Amino acid sequence: MTNTQLQTNYQDFIAERIHKVPFSGIRKFFGIAAKMPNVISLGIGEPDFPTPNPITQAGFDAVFQKNIGYTANSGLIELREKLSEHLNNLYGVNYDVNSEMIITVGVSEAMKCVFSAICNEGDEIIVPTPCFVAYEPEIIFAGGVPVTVECKLENNFELTAEDIEPYITPKTKAIFFGFPCNPTGAVLSRENALKIVQLAEKHNLLIISDEIYDRLVYGTDHVCIPSLPNARERTVLLGGFSKDYSMTGWRVGYICANPDLMEAFSKIHQYCVMSAPTISQYAALAALQIGEPFVKQMHDEYDRRRKLVVSSCNEMGLDCFEPKGAFYAFPSVAKTGMNGDDFAEKLLLDQEVAVIPGSAFGKGGENHVRIAYCKSYEQIEIALERMRKFVEKGNY
Ligand SMILES: Cc1ncc(COP(=O)(O)O)c(C=O)c1O
Repeated sequence: MTNTQLQTNYQDFIAERIHKVPFSGIRKFFGIAAKMPNVISLGIGEPDFPTPNPITQAGFDAVFQKNIGYTANSGLIELREKLSEHLNNLYGVNYDVNSEMIITVGVSEAMKCVFSAICNEGDEIIVPTPCFVAYEPEIIFAGGVPVTVECKLENNFELTAEDIEPYITPKTKAIFFGFPCNPTGAVLSRENALKIVQLAEKHNLLIISDEIYDRLVYGTDHVCIPSLPNARERTVLLGGFSKDYSMTGWRVGYICANPDLMEAFSKIHQYCVMSAPTISQYAALAALQIGEPFVKQMHDEYDRRRKLVVSSCNEMGLDCFEPKGAFYAFPSVAKTGMNGDDFAEKLLLDQEVAVIPGSAFGKGGENHVRIAYCKSYEQIEIALERMRKFVEKGNY
């Protein structure tokens, strides 16, 4: 069928809010990098470790045991029970398995459920930037308005209550953030987190906390927001298995929150996906049962790489604050005289190393690039050596 037969342009069929969202800046780089045979990509924010074998095995077992139908909408009861115990052991936070937990198709679907459930047209959601590329689009798709608050390098890219408060209006419904942070690697201190909770109380706002990288923190403890005093009832906790357990493609995540909120989230989840993939839920259950040594191994290896990346960047003059979480470093390239976009593009063409320009992650990222250290130590060493050559050569 041609456009003339439609009597209009295809674009006219697309909702305005979809037009508001551009494609992710990350895609362009993957497109170029894919055509380069010797490229080393430090671009993708995805663990390079395979899913640990016993976890994979549990997925296969589920298939062979014919556990392949839908599960309960909110997920396998055994998985919810184990997850509830897990969150209680780690953070001392308790969720009722029947009314306060849903297993989702990753944090991605969790965001969809939450924002579709809470946003009336024009409701404002505060989002600190630089942030994960999907945060702002998910809010816009749901009819909300993301109100961005820039996290500052001088605060180690932490979010503070003082930064947020001027942006609160009568339309503000929630503060949404994710620490450890993609792309900066920043974590949130207990002190700052407490002040943000107090601010949310003062203005009667929800907090939506994406804690998908909770197990990947280095030399510090993860601050689980709902475990803080007075936080649980106004916090929606999002988490998942993609990063901590190297299970991106299995697509399992979760939402934990108060039952009244959960009822609304469940409606969307139920009509949208019925239930998260069953086989994957069995694998996720195994991850919680036997995954701990693997988490530790992967964590320690990320930490080793993190130290290498941070020290090498600083040595070559790319100022890099110490990221204490996730698997990203976010050095400034300002000293080269380039912004992050130019640096990333020229580095890729000159040295075949892919990093992502910080601008892809919103305000505050313009003079930075994101380095994902999800590659072997040896590959990272080679990539950093190429970067050093590029920076030292000057004359870009
Ligand atoms: C901060 C953050 N939240 C959520 C996601 C999406 O995770 P999932 O695989 O659980 O959908 C990602 C993936 O990169 C992420 O970095």
